[in-house]
Amino acid sequence: MYLSGHSMGLQPKATEAYVVDALERWKHERDVLTLFKDFWFPLEDRIHLQLAKLLGAASTQELCLVSSLTVNLHSVLATFYRPLETGKDKIIMLAPEFNSDVFAVEGWLDLYQRKDALIRVPVEDTALANDLIVREVERSKDVAGVLCMSAVSYVTGQFYDIKRIAECCRKNDVRLVLQLAHAMGAVELQLHDWGVDCAVWCSYKYMNCLMGAIGGIFVHERNFDKMPGLRGWFGTEKHVQFDIVPNFMKKAGAPGYQMSCIDPFHAARIAGSLDTIEKFGGITTIMRKNAELYDYVYESLEAMKFKILSPKGFGNHGGALSVILDKKIKQ
Ligand SMILES: Cc1ncc(COP(=O)(O)O)c(C=O)c1O
Repeated sequence: MYLSGHSMGLQPKATEAYVVDALERWKHERDVLTLFKDFWFPLEDRIHLQLAKLLGAASTQELCLVSSLTVNLHSVLATFYRPLETGKDKIIMLAPEFNSDVFAVEGWLDLYQRKDALIRVPVEDTALANDLIVREVERSKDVAGVLCMSAVSYVTGQFYDIKRIAECCRKNDVRLVLQLAHAMGAVELQLHDWGVDCAVWCSYKYMNCLMGAIGGIFVHERNFDKMPGLRGWFGTEKHVQFDIVPNFMKKAGAPGYQMSCIDPFHAARIAGSLDTIEKFGGITTIMRKNAELYDYVYESLEAMKFKILSPKGFGNHGGALSVILDKKIKQ
């Protein structure tokens, strides 16, 4: 049990070796291009394969290791929120959601001068949450272009029924933008099979990569024809990347959303984490172990008459269990 793990996970043992190795290679290598070709690019390829498993992506083409969660949210909103094209200017969000996610969404509404176009769905009652979300999508389908929500709530720890919500969004022509801050490394995801339009994540919570570590973007293959709203030189095909005359030729699939090169020390932290997840049997095994611990803590707290905010039952929660403390205990 790691009681402060909500914001920053513990350091995996494998991480130090990766980071020290990166420093050593950098110190002794005289030919940086060879270092990239022989070491960093193959490492990135391995990371992509491991991430595809974690996300439940159909292939590595559906994912891109890039930037931080908030920047990635801006990137997919720039691509999937298109009120001028669709005529649907509302964005649905849950309440509560983390402030940075709300700021990003508000930024796009400001940019399109649609300040009043945010619809919030209250989800503090975990027994009602999935029904309320689906009902709002159905109710707002003619005016809402996007549902932007977390897969696992950072307040209640609820793991929403994403399969059902994604189906509902598709049926009602609402783009589903999923935020995976508390889902990556905590729960099993099947983003491709569930038909999620796109998703963004950071790597510092249950991925245990330290704050600021590189996150990523998932884009479902049915959306590969979309041009990324935010672009940079690493999103363009390798053979035109250094062209003097700018000519953005989007890389096939989600890698087109990469904007800049990847810091090798970020990649080292991600590699340490992904190897650790694999070493302990993969995300399904970790999720089961987490559930055993969760149930034990849940029942113990219940017996002590604590007021628990998080839902019970395998598949309904992430890695965190939230308890409401009265003022006396807090003090
Ligand atoms: C739900 C959620 N959204 C956004 C963020 C911000 O992430 P970043 O600093 O990578 O932009 C966090 C980080 O704690 C988070 O938990």
